[in-house]
Amino acid sequence: MNVTIVILAAGLGTRMKSRKAKVLHRAGGKTLIEHVVATALELTPAERVFVVVGHQAGEVRHAVATPGIGFIEQREQKGTGHAVLVGRDALAALGGYLVIVYGDGPLLRAATLRQLIAKADSTGSAGVLLSALMLDPTGYGRVVRDEAGHVQAIVEQKAATPDQLAIREANMGIYCFRADLFWKHAGEMRPDNPAKEYYLTDLVEILRRAGHSIEAMEIADAAEALGINDRTELAEADRILRARKLKEVMLGGVTIQKPETVTIDADVSIGIDTVIEPFAQVLGKTSIGENCRIGTCAIVDNSEIADEVEIGAFTLVGASRVDRAARVGPFARLRQGNHVGEGAHIGNFVELKNARLGAGAKANHLAYLGDTEIGGGTNIGAGTITCNYDGVHKHKTTIGRNVFVGSNSTLVAPIEIGDGAYLAAGSVITEPVPADALALGRARQALKPDWAKKRRARQKKAAEPK
Ligand code: UD1
Ligand code: MG
Repeated sequence: MNVTIVILAAGLGTRMKSRKAKVLHRAGGKTLIEHVVATALELTPAERVFVVVGHQAGEVRHAVATPGIGFIEQREQKGTGHAVLVGRDALAALGGYLVIVYGDGPLLRAATLRQLIAKADSTGSAGVLLSALMLDPTGYGRVVRDEAGHVQAIVEQKAATPDQLAIREANMGIYCFRADLFWKHAGEMRPDNPAKEYYLTDLVEILRRAGHSIEAMEIADAAEALGINDRTELAEADRILRARKLKEVMLGGVTIQKPETVTIDADVSIGIDTVIEPFAQVLGKTSIGENCRIGTCAIVDNSEIADEVEIGAFTLVGASRVDRAARVGPFARLRQGNHVGEGAHIGNFVELKNARLGAGAKANHLAYLGDTEIGGGTNIGAGTITCNYDGVHKHKTTIGRNVFVGSNSTLVAPIEIGDGAYLAAGSVITEPVPADALALGRARQALKPDWAKKRRARQKKAAEPK
């Protein structure tokens, strides 16, 4: 079945009180428009998904990074009907079904759209719209049905009679039309209302007059059709999307402790038997393997974590890769571009940036390793610092395999340390160290026997009364 999906996203969203177009605000870890596009792509290929853009068109296009998706520019927002009409050239030839959704409705599920399309198909009607029974439908168009239950018209709040205002069935603004009939009659919409807009809803009456029937499909969970208008609704959508994701992850075999405190973004994947501790955040496009542990208050962002990895409490991991059975944290910070090898250990108060550690390497305490390559089996002592910045440029530190870097070493980059070398604790290393050598870069210790004892004696004498 051919399905074309048009996403209306040209509006600014005045009630957001924002300099940013409404659909660019985020809930559940990504922009509203990204959620709607992802749902559309569950139903139809990218070549049949179109986004109507207007306000901040460039930014909205940029947010929808998926290749193949079409954009229709609506320069002036002259109503929901107009928004689809401006796409006529791109859309009218596509046939099949035309599904229309809103870019500010991130909670709508693909399954609901599938039901909508199936209903259009099985009833042979010209279109099916999504409706909901609401306790307070104020602001929504009301669904007026005839005796047989077919939809007669949608009446906007402003134009409704008192009787029509009492109708509790509201139009959610989501439709599935037969494309041929839609385009045959779309030109009959007129801006003959006080707002001088082209109302998509007018098509209901237009198609009926042409002898076709329109059906309504009542949505079971009205929250799904929640359109975001202001920041309170944005927060509500975020809450619902997060709860859905947590449920999906838990049903997929992941233990989440105190789930109400945990944040997992929409595009995260997590393997079975992994345990997520309270207050952890797993963000962006992170993937986590099986049987891992993500500690309390850890934040893992856009990273790739293999199986059996332990990320300790209060550890930050950004844009990094951690291989199987490695241990990171607690209290570690992996900034961007790191690769921690299999079984490697990164301990407390260790900061990494663009650092690669080979299998089994260890940096267990208090270190800064930036722009650094470290071979497998190497041990980085407590307090080691790579001086990668000379005030103007960044330089690289290369440390071989099975090197022993003594505590409190300072490695002034660019610098290279050969395999199996040994750096004495407290050294400032400025010259390359060949393989298997010992480097000492510190002042030789001086010793003054009995110096302290003599000093105490002097002090005691000075304190005696004269
Ligand atoms: C619309 C429906 C109403 C329904 C309600 C559900 C019409 C005439 N009315 O009303 O029956 O109950 O949705 O939420 O359709 N947009 C554009 N270009 C435009 C106008 C709108 O892209 O020129 C986009 C907006 O950005 C928004 C969506 O379409 O995402 C809906 O527009 P809006 O003006 O909010 O329609 P409503 O008045 O709420
Ligand atoms: Mg609206």
